[in-house]
Amino acid sequence: MALAPYASGLTLPKGVSFTAADFGEDFLWGVATAAYQIEGAWNVDGKGPSIWDTFSHQRGNIDNRDTGDVACDFYHSYDSDIDLVRQMNMDVFRFSTAWSRVLPEGTGKVNQKGIDFYHRVIDSCLEKGIQPWITLYHWDLPQALEDKGGWQNRDVVGWFEEYANLITKTYGDKVNNWMVLNEPMAFTAVGHLLGMHAPGKKWPKNFIPTVHNATLCQADGGRIIRANVPDANIGTTFSCSSAEPLNDRGIHEEVVKRFDVLLNRLFIEPPQGLGYPIDDLPMLKKLEDYIQDGDMKRVEFDFDFYGLQNYTRVVARGNAIIPYLQGAPFNPKKMKPKPEITEMGWEVHPEGIYKMLKYFDRYEGIDKIIVTENGAAFPDTVENDRVHDHRRKKFYQDYLRNVLRAKKEGVNVAGYFCWTLMDNFEWAEGYHPRFGLVHVDFETQKRTMKDSGLWFKDFLKDR
Ligand code: FCB
Repeated sequence: MALAPYASGLTLPKGVSFTAADFGEDFLWGVATAAYQIEGAWNVDGKGPSIWDTFSHQRGNIDNRDTGDVACDFYHSYDSDIDLVRQMNMDVFRFSTAWSRVLPEGTGKVNQKGIDFYHRVIDSCLEKGIQPWITLYHWDLPQALEDKGGWQNRDVVGWFEEYANLITKTYGDKVNNWMVLNEPMAFTAVGHLLGMHAPGKKWPKNFIPTVHNATLCQADGGRIIRANVPDANIGTTFSCSSAEPLNDRGIHEEVVKRFDVLLNRLFIEPPQGLGYPIDDLPMLKKLEDYIQDGDMKRVEFDFDFYGLQNYTRVVARGNAIIPYLQGAPFNPKKMKPKPEITEMGWEVHPEGIYKMLKYFDRYEGIDKIIVTENGAAFPDTVENDRVHDHRRKKFYQDYLRNVLRAKKEGVNVAGYFCWTLMDNFEWAEGYHPRFGLVHVDFETQKRTMKDSGLWFKDFLKDR
């Protein structure tokens, strides 16, 4: 199904002030995190290695040779860290469970100490009146499974089922809110097509099978949660970026369609019964080699919500000699006038989140959306016990204004989770980009709430 891209030429009101109450009483506010980025304790209490342990220990993969070995040491400081979530008057703590902490070999023998850890995290949330929202998979495949072919091996579907069953049966009586995968587009493509994330593989031949296997896990995971957790609220999350042409010359307009497939449609359409958008991106034709009888029914699942994760937009520039996409993203640093750009090199484009909310909302199969990640990396100014981060605060205000606008126009967006609670290990970029509402001094592990965190605290105080 080809959806018309979001309307272009939107005008959005600037400077309109709003309160948290404008989002409605039931609107959920939270922070999102991921196991490998915060936990540390990479080989403690029986945890097995994951592909991120392996990848970060290999020279040349991560800026500054950083690793997640210690990260924020959340494994030991979870209780006081969850206190910070409370202090900011948030409702939700989104975190992921590390597969190789509970199943060190990926399947088989269960590590009780790993199981106990997530009980402690969940209990700490519940004691403080914070809702725990669990993501089953945030990129850290057990290395033992990578050694057997990882996401490229269709057996991953069975491995994932075993893990999903374990987690949901273990914690299902305490946790209602679940997400199956974090951004399948990111871990399949960045890890298996571009080679910039673990496991560091490249080329379409490695990427294509991971797409179908992840799509199968996405739906099977939903069914497993449904079976094991009565009254569960089940979602899964997607990265998305509005794709826009560099200008109105045909070559750029054409490439937008292909970017849109890859960035926004590939994983979101199969669960809704719309199949893969193969017609709009011929390189995906190879997917047909991996689809078995009954698979296209099996990839369907009626999620209770779709998790939307948005940071920036992509301005697409056509170039006929570039294979597969016949185009590439245009570098925001070369845009005129030069937009605001984050430490990740991403253009700040607040209207993008509005466009993507409208875009998701056009699908009949999507009833409810939660923004499960949005945020920005900027340098902070640390001054005694204050951390000034004016640009991050403004980023949140501008993006939230656009979320509210979509909501007022009828989009059923039911929550907003900031990326992220505290500065952490930002994958291939290591510790340099700081996304947190809370500053972390990685030498001492000292936490300091930034001005942006204090702003949320105040903004959310009387809802
Ligand atoms: C998202 C990831 C998250 C974090 C942010 C900045 O793509 O889900 O782990 O790295 O980007």
